[in-house]
Amino acid sequence: MTRRPPLRCLVTGASRGIGRTIVEHLAASGHQVAITARSVGDLQSLADSLDVPTLVLPADVTDPGTPDGLVADVVAAWGGIDVAVLNAGEAISAPIHRTDDALWQQMLDVNLTAPFRFIRAAVPPMKQAGFGRIIVIASIASKVGVPYITAYSAAKHGVLGAVRSAAMELATTGVTVNAVCPGYVDTPLTDRALEAIVAKTGIDMAAARATLENTHPIKRLITTDEVASVVDMLVADTGGITGQGIVIDGGSVQS
Ligand SMILES: NC(=O)c1ccc[n+]([C@@H]2O[C@H](COP(=O)([O-])OP(=O)(O)OC[C@H]3O[C@@H](n4cnc5c(N)ncnc54)[C@H](OP(=O)(O)O)[C@@H]3O)[C@@H](O)[C@H]2O)c1
Repeated sequence: MTRRPPLRCLVTGASRGIGRTIVEHLAASGHQVAITARSVGDLQSLADSLDVPTLVLPADVTDPGTPDGLVADVVAAWGGIDVAVLNAGEAISAPIHRTDDALWQQMLDVNLTAPFRFIRAAVPPMKQAGFGRIIVIASIASKVGVPYITAYSAAKHGVLGAVRSAAMELATTGVTVNAVCPGYVDTPLTDRALEAIVAKTGIDMAAARATLENTHPIKRLITTDEVASVVDMLVADTGGITGQGIVIDGGSVQS
């Protein structure tokens, strides 16, 4: 089953990078969008640039009460929630012997526990409505091991497992649950990764960027529009796609 716009959407990590572009795509399709992140000013300027109804809901997704609270806010304001795009995330690298418990927990909190809690909160109203589209922005690090990001990769593998199991549990309810698994995307997160590579290795920024680009057979970074276009496709899908982790990485991981 498909639903025509406007759908009532919630997007986490909406203040910049992939999340911001996803919001712009959803709004361009005529959907109304509730946006959340910690940076209130960035959320407000994004909302001001959109021609659709918006809700600006600043929050830290790692606070245990945030997912229930934000889903309740959307349902209270708009009478339901049709789409949840769980994009907020953070990637901090470290060799495994320097991955302390705090870094491990930080990566799990934001990349695994927070999206789990949002899925848990969004399922009841979506099931009741007989329609829902849950999309987690995971990573190719959900599918393959990548050096120096053990904690991030464990969290991203975990969230893909949650997506697959939730999709099976909800398969007959009208609610689909999928993940999008990008390679290196041209965003502030990747800029921070490049700065870390420069600081640790001494190579210059151009060489560091080329190193990441060359991990993709297409020899360039993925754009935020390319990720948002797959989200658009999953939102508009009639329900046949569920439990998937769709890779967008220029061909390096073939699954
Ligand atoms: N860039 C890549 O190469 C790449 C590749 C694969 C997967 N991904 C995934 O794609 C997603 C988006 O990444 P990006 O590259 O767009 O990153 P980004 O540019 O750093 O943006 C991250 C977003 O998440 C929000 N966020 C982070 N921690 C948060 C927290 N504790 N509470 C609330 N919001 C939080 C940030 O907002 P505030 O700081 O304002 O709170 C920001 O809006 C992440 O899940 C990431 O793991 C990225």
